[in-house]
Amino acid sequence: MSYASFPVVVLPTYNEKENISHILPEILKQDKRIHVLVVDDHSPDKTADAVKKIQKKYSKRVHLISRKGRGRGAAVLKGFKEALKLGATSIFEMDADFSHNPKDLPRFLKEIEKVDVVIGSRFVKGGKIEQRGWLRNVLSDILNEMIRLLLGLKIHDTSTGFRLFRSDVIKKINTKKIVSKNYSLCPELLYRATQSGFSLKEIPIVFVNRYAGKSKANLHIAIDYFLTIFRIRFSK
Ligand code: GDD
Ligand code: MN
Repeated sequence: MSYASFPVVVLPTYNEKENISHILPEILKQDKRIHVLVVDDHSPDKTADAVKKIQKKYSKRVHLISRKGRGRGAAVLKGFKEALKLGATSIFEMDADFSHNPKDLPRFLKEIEKVDVVIGSRFVKGGKIEQRGWLRNVLSDILNEMIRLLLGLKIHDTSTGFRLFRSDVIKKINTKKIVSKNYSLCPELLYRATQSGFSLKEIPIVFVNRYAGKSKANLHIAIDYFLTIFRIRFSK
């Protein structure tokens, strides 16, 4: 079986009206087999309406969930469950603000035939971060080192939100154990996948800071991230 035969891209969105109508066609044109599932948390800017417009053109390949809660992690988990119901063979997690380049998708699809989880890494040879302030980069470095140490992960980019999972990985991970509601779901999923014996591989990506809209990360979210890493480490 080919893991690339039915890939579903789970795209969490909160106030991405300016980006969503551009990124959806960009993603879909990378590969005819790709479907996209937007998980929107009732964005006040009406991102969902923009998705519905695009759905008219690509009806069968664009799916939308409007969720009542908030948080990137919880939205992604909901999307994963829905993608499994659709029958996905592999599932992407990706940002909707063009920080993750849709042109990278085919490279992930090639790798997924060989490994259980493909990780888009900013910290391996060929990967980098562009146009982001030095402070945010330093914080990102510190966070990554801390996660690697605490969770015993051997990869370089534990917090990246651009990855591709074989569906078996998502089916096997016990989602009831997951404690993350927000961005810390990124390292937590890698931790749970390694615990279950799945193989991970990093491929380089260039992360470009968003040019439209605002980042949803803030100090409160950063502190919650930090504390959640400890909760993951000491969870059963
Ligand atoms: N549904 C939903 N609900 N989506 C959300 C929410 C939410 O509460 N918060 C953020 N998102 C979506 C955004 O709309 C975007 O598509 C994606 O999640 C990333 O959010 P950003 O706010 O742009 O995050 P960032 O650029 O600061 O963080 C990036 O770097 C981190 C590591 O440095 C992301 O790639 C993260 O995934 C990554 O962990
Ligand atoms: Mn972003």
